[in-house]
Amino acid sequence: MDLKTILKRLDHIDDLPTLPTIAMEVNKMLQDYDTSIKKLAQTIEKDQAMVPRILKLVNSAFFGFQSKISSISHAVVILGFNTVRNAVVSISIINAFSGKDVLEDFDITDFWTHSVAVAATSKYLAEKTRLHSPDESFTAGLIHDIGKVVLAHYFQGLFKNAWVSARENNLSFYDAEKKENPVTHARIGGYLAKKWQLPPGLVDAVRYHHSVSKNAYEPNLLMIVHIADIIVNCLTLNPEAEIDTSSIHPDAANAVGSQLDIVSDWFPEVLEEIQSACQFFLEGVE
Ligand SMILES: [Fe+2]
Ligand SMILES: [Fe+2]
Repeated sequence: MDLKTILKRLDHIDDLPTLPTIAMEVNKMLQDYDTSIKKLAQTIEKDQAMVPRILKLVNSAFFGFQSKISSISHAVVILGFNTVRNAVVSISIINAFSGKDVLEDFDITDFWTHSVAVAATSKYLAEKTRLHSPDESFTAGLIHDIGKVVLAHYFQGLFKNAWVSARENNLSFYDAEKKENPVTHARIGGYLAKKWQLPPGLVDAVRYHHSVSKNAYEPNLLMIVHIADIIVNCLTLNPEAEIDTSSIHPDAANAVGSQLDIVSDWFPEVLEEIQSACQFFLEGVE
């Protein structure tokens, strides 16, 4: 199967998770400068199951506001359009992809634990470096590997090829994909993010998180997610391990600068945040 055939197949999968209508509508509305707070709040409130989860998220430490926000319109006033959009996208994507039947080698809880860890680390780096908005960095980290779930569910042959080759040749999953397959999870994830009409900065952060490109729409966002992914992969099992700096793109290392040198000082603090973020996001993930 070549790249074109794979992407074409992706276009024709009937049960491919879609972003709930409200997330799509919210994305569209934010491209329109005339959207009012009232209209945005009314759109979100159409999905009553979603409202309490959004309020819980915007009242949590992850989106940086710890006072009582009691309604969607209040959230939009206090936090702004983009932050509320990021909350809607984050919750929608976790919902859409939890409980999907995937391969036995693929543990969906491990997958989301990694994603939440990259989200929290991305947010921390964004706050410290001021390179990008913390909540969008959180959302980008949360969805960066979404292409893996699509592979594990819909392209199991490709997923298995990469999985087996990674184990046998001691490669990362991404390097094994490049060796064995015509397409990587980053490419598939980027394609899906675009199809969902997510903002171009998020699309490129997913698409290029393993292969930093200066031409990405929001290069700073991309570099944050790229580094956060490497930090999490190196330090989750052993917080005192050395970071493999050879896999970090030099532009990204430059941009994040001193935070990388002192990562062992701050990562334990982020690990605590990761644990509470996991409790928050993973309730209901099977
Ligand atoms: Fe990845
Ligand atoms: Fe990752």
